[in-house]
Amino acid sequence: MSNNPVEIESLTKVFRIPMRRERVVAVRDLSLRVEKGEVYGLLGPNGSGKSTTLKILLGLVSATRGRTRVFGEDSGLVRSRKDVGFLPENPYFYKFLTGAETVRFFGKLSGLSGAQLEARVSELLELVGLTEAAGRRVGSYSKGMLQRIGLAQALVQDPGLLVLDEPTAGVDPVGSREIRDLILEMKARGKTILLCSHLLSQVQEICDRVGILARGELVREGRVEDLLAVQDRMEIVFEQASPEKLDALREAAKGLGLTVVSSGRPQTTLEHLFLDSIEPGQSMDASPARRRA
Ligand SMILES: Nc1ncnc2c1ncn2[C@@H]1O[C@H](COP(=O)(O)OP(=O)(O)OP(=O)(O)O)[C@@H](O)[C@H]1O
Ligand SMILES: [Mg+2]
Repeated sequence: MSNNPVEIESLTKVFRIPMRRERVVAVRDLSLRVEKGEVYGLLGPNGSGKSTTLKILLGLVSATRGRTRVFGEDSGLVRSRKDVGFLPENPYFYKFLTGAETVRFFGKLSGLSGAQLEARVSELLELVGLTEAAGRRVGSYSKGMLQRIGLAQALVQDPGLLVLDEPTAGVDPVGSREIRDLILEMKARGKTILLCSHLLSQVQEICDRVGILARGELVREGRVEDLLAVQDRMEIVFEQASPEKLDALREAAKGLGLTVVSSGRPQTTLEHLFLDSIEPGQSMDASPARRRA
């Protein structure tokens, strides 16, 4: 038996809505595998079955057909979850607890206590950039801060597999960038990450492989650069290309039998423009490290 962090085999989930005698096929014959150390992104529009797949993998929802395993253990078994951290789609926290109390609460639930617990709480708050806000009630946190506290909660038992349902949902570009950096930091520490999102450009930068779900079916899967490469085309970017030099280049290309398909100024993305235009720290959520930068 293989011990890949995630194995999903021919998974189908049908929700029945008895009152309306309806059936919703949320996931249809889905098979995928996430290998150790990978960041895998499950992409797809709203309602395509991403959250349902993650919930079945974590044993929170039962499968109609097929099998899901975590580190080789069937998702139905409690022990399959011992090395997994989960950030749910809409994490719920007790509003009246502070950030530090929240992380401490989850730490205790996962069996930590005493000095070890306190060290872990401070370390995690620092890691997610919430040290300064640690004494504030979670009820006063912004969406970005709530996602960070959710990440701290998911990391509390230092799991080998992190399952993140829309980790940057509702977070501004600065906060999203920091969450992405945090995910890459977790990967560098040897963790495996399975995340889902419909924010494609964000996922592109951090995932090794992606799977695209449409109406519960896996319609594409592969390494990000392979999926995005336009076959049989190459792009070259020149600096200080005068009109005369460009004409000469076009002539030279023609001489080589090459067709120039397009030329123009390379475009940035709105997100990069936004990030380049604001001063670091303008997001209220920016972590202390970033604010100091
Ligand atoms: N408990 C449920 N009962 C009935 N139908 C459900 C249930 N949970 C999910 N569904 C349906 O299953 C389909 C997939 O839902 P799911 O939440 O997995 O999608 P998603 O890809 O995570 O979408 P989003 O991007 O909006 O989070 C949808 O049609 C949804 O309405
Ligand atoms: Mg979802």
